[in-house]
Amino acid sequence: MHKAGRVAAEILDEIAPLVVPGATTAQIDQAITDHIDRVGVVSATIGYKGYQHASCISVNHVVCHGIPGAKVLKDGDILNIDVTVIVDGWYGDTSRMYVAGKLGRKAERLIEVTHDSLMKGIEVVRPGATFGDIGHAIQTFVESHRMSVVRDFCGHGLGRVFHAPPNVLHYGRPGAGPVLEEGMFFTIEPMVNLGRPETKILPDDWTAVTRDRSLSAQFEHSIGVTADGCEIFTLSPAGKFHPTYG
Ligand code: MF3
Ligand code: CO
Ligand code: CO
Repeated sequence: MHKAGRVAAEILDEIAPLVVPGATTAQIDQAITDHIDRVGVVSATIGYKGYQHASCISVNHVVCHGIPGAKVLKDGDILNIDVTVIVDGWYGDTSRMYVAGKLGRKAERLIEVTHDSLMKGIEVVRPGATFGDIGHAIQTFVESHRMSVVRDFCGHGLGRVFHAPPNVLHYGRPGAGPVLEEGMFFTIEPMVNLGRPETKILPDDWTAVTRDRSLSAQFEHSIGVTADGCEIFTLSPAGKFHPTYG
């Protein structure tokens, strides 16, 4: 899990300079494929349920599972890039936000709140806490900023498989859900909308967008529960997880 998480995070570090106005999402995905081939690991998403790309790239009102393609990035676009690799049979899954050109005020607030909501969720993780505690921490933080948590997608257990139980909800009640135990591996990956939480899937059967076309953001880490807290496997070696590099 350490190696898989590190490789996934290194990919997200390396592609940051490619996210500029005028670039296409296919170009960024190609750089990810090239990196994966160069270091000799395996993409978890190519061939997964028919998906054909090494990343999901979700721009502006796309919530998740955006398909890389001919779309040209323009100044002020915000995008989530999500990469999952398999290293020696173990999965590392992480995503973060990027900005093409100049970041707008509202988008900056959304990205900040989404990033911080993931960290609020991670802070709760220790043996004896519950998955409901994680969801509650994320939801209360996001809603205190008058933004909304997407309900239609969730985090997941992972390890030697991509998507394992339990579903890791990003909303919930304290004490609800399964109890966390040392040695569990899972992702936390809140999607936050500036408007309403509802999503819909486009006819390509993958791309999820906000129904009200409001901006959406997401951050994802793969983590493991330790004796007294948790370990983040997908920390950015370059310290670039947050798009303002803070
Ligand atoms: N990486 C995504 C997740 O966080 C899953 C992408 S599946 C794909 O779980 F097929 F769309 F790539
Ligand atoms: Co995931
Ligand atoms: Co992911």
